Amino acid sequence: MPLQANESLADLSVDARVHLKHHYQQEASLLAAAPGRVNLIGEHIDYCDGFVLPLAIDRHVVIAAALNNSGVARVRTTGEEEAVISLEGPQAPATPPWANYLRGVLEGFRLRGSWPVPGFNAVIVSNLPIGGGLSSSAALELAFATIVEGFVDTVLDTREKALLCQKAEHDFAGIPCGIMDQFASAFGQQDNLVLIDCQSQDPELVPFHSSDLSVLVANTMVRHKLADGEYRTRREETERALATLGRGSWREVASHDLESQKDELGDVLFRRARHVVTEIKRTAEAAEELRKDNYAALGPHMAASHQSLRDDFEVSCGELDLMVRIANEIGFEGGVLGSRMTGGGFGGSTVTLCRGEQLREIAARLSVAYEAESGNTPQLFATRPVQGARLL
Ligand code: GLA
Repeated sequence: MPLQANESLADLSVDARVHLKHHYQQEASLLAAAPGRVNLIGEHIDYCDGFVLPLAIDRHVVIAAALNNSGVARVRTTGEEEAVISLEGPQAPATPPWANYLRGVLEGFRLRGSWPVPGFNAVIVSNLPIGGGLSSSAALELAFATIVEGFVDTVLDTREKALLCQKAEHDFAGIPCGIMDQFASAFGQQDNLVLIDCQSQDPELVPFHSSDLSVLVANTMVRHKLADGEYRTRREETERALATLGRGSWREVASHDLESQKDELGDVLFRRARHVVTEIKRTAEAAEELRKDNYAALGPHMAASHQSLRDDFEVSCGELDLMVRIANEIGFEGGVLGSRMTGGGFGGSTVTLCRGEQLREIAARLSVAYEAESGNTPQLFATRPVQGARLL
């Protein structure tokens, strides 16, 4: 059974309610859900003023909560120590570390003046794999922010909410991420891709009409330890490259600028810069093709994106390359329109655009061949774009 069955959002919601009742003897007064994301194209350029083209996926974090008449939030999630968070004053990173995402979100509400938040109990359930490169932390932040909105009786503008969650990730989890994950989880809409101009921070919905297409997510089930450190390094390298080029934004840099300043940049920064410039162009072109429903045009762009991430940006790994290679071997004839790594890299998942009627066969071939060569059993699931964070 290579394609994983999905626990539905309705079932997850029941789980969350049942767990709240079990742990805190309360009925939920608020229930919130936020989806993870996969990115079709536009990788490692959300922090470079680029364009990214993710979709919110049918894998969620769900939180059930109820007020507890105290000055603390008590929060539980499967397999982790309960977090007891004082709501008296400023928040700071503390133990258990998994709850720092929540503290960061609370601090965002405090700083905007939506304070105090009344005490509450909450339970978190999820069918998003952690470490699968599918933005489980962004989904957690957005679901939690949606609960807090409910308790302070304020609905934030969606952009403000996504940025508040990104800041929580920066300040409380120490990951200098771009805006893609939080924007995808916040702005996602059923049957739409979210094209984000990361310079203006404007999301635009691009309809994903074609009911005969599926987005196949293949989790390699590896996550190399260096991922977070390398992410920070890549971000710094792009900043140094831009400073060397003497420009204020990557949107002002053209390929010929890189060639003429190749010596000043040096080999590594030149390749990082080449990835950024070519990926911005590819993503803008891919979005243009999708607006015309020309899905077949996506394949070459996805292939070039993967190569650039592998060779110039150096954020892929053997397992991701293997999964993409197998998909490419299945090829257009076999129903694969395009395949590439998705997310930060160094493990995690690939995204493969497939013809729906060949989906099961493609998943079976990817699963068998990947396991035979890598020794790891991958997890595969198909998804269509779903709605972003909301109260249920
Ligand atoms: C992670 C980050 C995002 C983005 C991707 C790479 O998912 O959280 O902001 O930079 O990596 O595209």
